[in-house]
Formats: sequence, structure tokens, C-alpha cells
Amino acid sequence: MAAMNTIDRIERAVRETSHYVKRNLGTHAGKRGQTNPSDEVQTGADVWSDDLFFDALAPLDGVGSYTSEERSETVDCGEGYAIAIDPLDGSGNLASNNSVGTIVGVYDRPLPTSGRDLVAAMMVLHGPYTTMTVARADSDVVQEYLLRDGHNERRGVFELPEDYAVVGIAGKPIDRSEQVNALAEDLQRDLKLRYGGATVADLAQVLEYGGLFGYPKSEVYPEGKLRIHFEAAPLAYLVEAAGGDSSDGQKSLLDVEPGGLHARTPTFLGNSELIEQVEAALGGG
Ligand code: F6P
Repeated sequence: MAAMNTIDRIERAVRETSHYVKRNLGTHAGKRGQTNPSDEVQTGADVWSDDLFFDALAPLDGVGSYTSEERSETVDCGEGYAIAIDPLDGSGNLASNNSVGTIVGVYDRPLPTSGRDLVAAMMVLHGPYTTMTVARADSDVVQEYLLRDGHNERRGVFELPEDYAVVGIAGKPIDRSEQVNALAEDLQRDLKLRYGGATVADLAQVLEYGGLFGYPKSEVYPEGKLRIHFEAAPLAYLVEAAGGDSSDGQKSLLDVEPGGLHARTPTFLGNSELIEQVEAALGGG
């Protein structure tokens, strides 16, 4: 058997930590922390899970730095890959006991940098059961695992279906541009509406059934809401590896250059034809 490399070790640490996070989420769901660097109110679970992932990932050989959506600065850990993590994506869903996730990007350059420097991306979905989806530069497939206590089963390989069935575009019509509202209306004529408020969970539906997930810019979020390093770029890496596309409205999310660690971007992920439709509708800005 081949020796484990750094990405194998990162994958294993994310899997093991995710088991523990899932088992104990309820205990931390209601507790409030402070606000994070993006000015979002943290749940206790955001801070708690960030500490757990830090403790599991930072000491690994080959990990050079740890940057989290919950911390203002990068933590230097030695020589090697730069980890960017959203430890508990969609934590606003905890109060109502809906799905949340974890997103990990592994970059081979110090942050800030674009998604073109990603060498792996992982997303964990804490749904009725826990799955982890992994795309790696050294693999041709996007692999999904079922995480069980002490065991991880290969569940299948993700390729975006050619047909598409679902759409979820965030934000209130009153805060969104006319172009976004027209696009949403158009898409919702043919596709089933699926928006749950956790990017990982919403994207999982797109990966399974085909479709489009979008978090556009709006009056409330003039730059978009999702963070490039922790959310948009790693998920774009996954979707593009699964045969889909991504866009900020004009170009692939992998080409978006972050102006800082917590920089945001409008985000669209899904089937290529739908991404073309997004760019045709919003390409002007
Ligand atoms: O991290 C941001 C996030 O929690 C995403 O996971 C999710 O897609 C989004 O915010 C939900 O935002 P809203 O509550 O505006 O729909």
C-alpha cells in the first residue's frame, strides 16, 4: 500500500473530527459566541468546531498554515500547504435543527490566493447521515464517503447529471438586482426551488439532482456573502471536478483574486448550461 501523503492525512483528520463534531453538535447549538471577522454572530458550535479542526489539522506534517472563517489571522504551523476552512458552514441552521456542513480548501500557496492554487477541496454534510465529498488534484474522480463511527465507506463518485432539476438562489427579491430577479424567475419556471440556507446542503442537492446554487450580490451584501477562500473557491473546485462550472457572474470562481483573507464574492455553482445562463444574464456586472 502506498504511504500516506499530506492530503491523505488532512482527509483523515477532517473525517475523524467530523464524526466527533456531528455527535456533539446539539450540545453547542444554542450557545452564542462573539461575531466572526465577517461580522456574523457566531454560535458556540462555530468556535468549538474551529478549535477541534485546528487541533487536528495544525500539527500535521506538511500543513504550513491554518486560516479559518472564524479567525481574523492565519496561524503559521510550519512548512507546507495552506488550509482554509469554514468549520461549520450554515450554522444559522442550527437553531432550527437543519443541515450544516464543513468546507476545507487545501492550497499550495500562502493565502490570500486564488482557487487556481487549490490542490484539494472537501465538504462534509451533517444531514440525516454524514457524508464527505472530496476532490483532489491527484485523483480523476470526486469521491463521496459515508462517515460512520470508526469506518468510512466509499459511497459513490460524483458527476453532475446532464439533466438538471433544482435551483436555489439566495436573498430577498427586494434586495437583489432586477437582473438577478429576472434570472431567478426564469429558472424557477422549469426547476424545483431548493434553498435551505447552508451552502454545503444546498450544493449537495445540485450535485445529486443537477441544477444551480447561487448567492448573488445584493443591497445587503454588495460583494456577495460567501467568502472566496473558505467557501466559494473550494466548492467551485469540487463542482468543476465533478463536470460542472462555477461563476462570480462573469468568470470561474477559481479565477477570482481575493483582496484579503475574508474577501467575499457573488457565487454560482452548477451545471455548465445554467452557469452560461447566469453569465449571459449578469455578465454586464
Ligand atoms: O457562511 C454563510 C452561510 O451560512 C452559507 O452557508 C449559506 O449559504 C448562507 O450563509 C445563508 O445565508 P442566508 O441566511 O442569507 O440565506
